[in-house]
Amino acid sequence: MDEQRKIVVTSALPYANGDIHLGHLVEYIQTDIWVRFQKLRGHDCVYVCADDTHGTPIMIRARREGISPEELVEHTHAIHLKDFTDFQIAFDNYYSTNSPENRQLSELFYEAMKKSGGITRKTTPQLYCEHCQMFLPDRFVKGICPKCGAEGQYGDSCDRCGATYAAEELGAPICTTCGGTPVVRDSEHLYFELEPQHDYLEKWIPAHTTSDVSNKLLEWFKEPLRGWCISRSAPYFGFEIPGDPDKYFYVWVDAPIGYLASLANWCAAHGKSFDDYWQNPKAERYHFIGKDIIRFHCLFWPGMLHTAGFAQPDKIFVHGFLTVNGEKMSKSKGTFINARTYLDNLPPEALRYYYAAKLGGSTDDMDLNLTDFVQRVNSDLVGKITNIASRGAQMLQKKLSGRLGALDAEGAELVAECRAAAETIAGFYEERRFNMAVVEICRLADAVNAYFDRKEPWKTVKTDSEATRVTLTAALNAFRILAIYLQPVLPVYAEKAMKLFGETSWTWKSIATTLENRSLGDYEYLASRIDVGQVEAMVAAATVKPADSGEVQHESRASKNKAKSAAVAVAAPGIKGEIAFADFEKIDLRVGLVKSCEIVPKSAKLLKFVIDAGALGERTIFSGIRAAYPDPSALVGKEVVFVANLAPRKMSVGVSEGMILYAGEPGSGGGVVSPMALAGAGIPVC
Ligand code: 2FM
Ligand code: ZN
Repeated sequence: MDEQRKIVVTSALPYANGDIHLGHLVEYIQTDIWVRFQKLRGHDCVYVCADDTHGTPIMIRARREGISPEELVEHTHAIHLKDFTDFQIAFDNYYSTNSPENRQLSELFYEAMKKSGGITRKTTPQLYCEHCQMFLPDRFVKGICPKCGAEGQYGDSCDRCGATYAAEELGAPICTTCGGTPVVRDSEHLYFELEPQHDYLEKWIPAHTTSDVSNKLLEWFKEPLRGWCISRSAPYFGFEIPGDPDKYFYVWVDAPIGYLASLANWCAAHGKSFDDYWQNPKAERYHFIGKDIIRFHCLFWPGMLHTAGFAQPDKIFVHGFLTVNGEKMSKSKGTFINARTYLDNLPPEALRYYYAAKLGGSTDDMDLNLTDFVQRVNSDLVGKITNIASRGAQMLQKKLSGRLGALDAEGAELVAECRAAAETIAGFYEERRFNMAVVEICRLADAVNAYFDRKEPWKTVKTDSEATRVTLTAALNAFRILAIYLQPVLPVYAEKAMKLFGETSWTWKSIATTLENRSLGDYEYLASRIDVGQVEAMVAAATVKPADSGEVQHESRASKNKAKSAAVAVAAPGIKGEIAFADFEKIDLRVGLVKSCEIVPKSAKLLKFVIDAGALGERTIFSGIRAAYPDPSALVGKEVVFVANLAPRKMSVGVSEGMILYAGEPGSGGGVVSPMALAGAGIPVC
């Protein structure tokens, strides 16, 4: 083997406002396999990642949950890390972009960008929501496509005709957070000019990406490169731009810098030098990313690194998207599956194995066909590979006191055949053609099974125990080699196999050892069959009913079971007809503090609420929920959610200025919807 390489590897940083799902896992499992392979080969490989914590969606989500962005980020970090760990993904460091190292590095990059003359300022019109008091990012505004007239289109591009445009060009724009109509306001922004690096990047890109990726990117080089807007206006969760109060670095500036921050943090914790890994010309650096974020990694990021005098990545490895059963992942079909939903129903090894069997190192999309998944795991991983160990080890233990013998010529040939594939398989791993590595491992497993069946140890054990011991010794040695080959894909499985052979660690070189005349350890189940029922249960758990707003209201505090019964209640007779999402979006939900709540004389049903709605002032609302609150004063001081933009309604007892949200049937266990932790009144909650 060649000399030890120093390698830094990253996977894209997942946003801190969402769950890890099976689409994400294509990348993390792929990277983890590659890193584990490098480590098994004896290289000094460091795998760093982090949560991508900044940006408007995270700020809004935290607001909605009534917590600070920092709390949200901390909470998500623990959840993400648990998901990854349970999928056997072993980062050397899983950090956060909201870290002191990242702030310092971001400022350092910015200084260098300024010094190079690459930062310019432009004033541009932008949509501003006066109600939310913020400039609206493209995905926070919807309206009519200026090209084809389609309704409900985001501020950057049209789903129907594919046109791209500026958000201000949308017809009848609406703030997706509050439903209000934004206004156009001028705002000054900072840009990172890329045109000065036109020639540099034009050469850099094809040398560091595959041709399909670079061909696409190079189309932009036919014209001068446009500047990239790197600032966002307050309020924004991120790093303030030094010298520009109320301006923050756009999340995509500090996200890739987060790779370096995570590495720096790891180096500091392990007494290593950052420069030795990142700046060292002999070290190698690789980013694994999905094809949706090529522009950031192959254009802006190398431009930033070049300007700031940092080493470039050696290669950007780009993978495609995940489809499930041949289609885009879908919540309503139950194929948008979160990592945890999968883990609640199926073993992580099965997915790792299946992904490895499908990943060919290209940018093509990859399909998780759920029927094929069950079939392949059962027939190949369990039936073919694991079966060698379970049949061989259990027979040796039960009938031959668990002791290996010595190889005869035929057995030695079988083991040699398995060993001979080592460099081919290593080559496949190195090139990220894991599918080919798995094919090769399965081919060898077929050879071992054929040997096993030919030797019929289950028969010979009755007549010639020593000959049987020789047969099983060959089969188990062959299996051991396959388990070493599989270790990058199935690390926990390999660890159990190691124990079976009484070993504590393997390297790629361990395949050269033959185990003879020694006792086996206990046989622990390595992998078990999966069944369609588990997959069905997972899909059922992942299925989200469209337009099921009742479910959401009930679910906020309820246990899973309660949420299910809420769903049943929603489907019960008496429910109103379905409404379109566009209708639902029109509803402006706010939090209000109940100042007073009284029984309305001469009315059997009504309660009169006076609500402090923060910026909206006081509202009087009549609500027919008296049966649920025999003592309405119990509601005083509580926060409730109400519809703020319902037209005022004249009733015999007065004018009602909104509608209080209530879930369930009054008098049979329902209650007003409470935002719980939402601080302060008048906060948009939609
Ligand atoms: O697309 C995403 O999910 C981003 N959070 C990826 C960031 S990768 C890197 F640049 F930080
Ligand atoms: Zn708004």
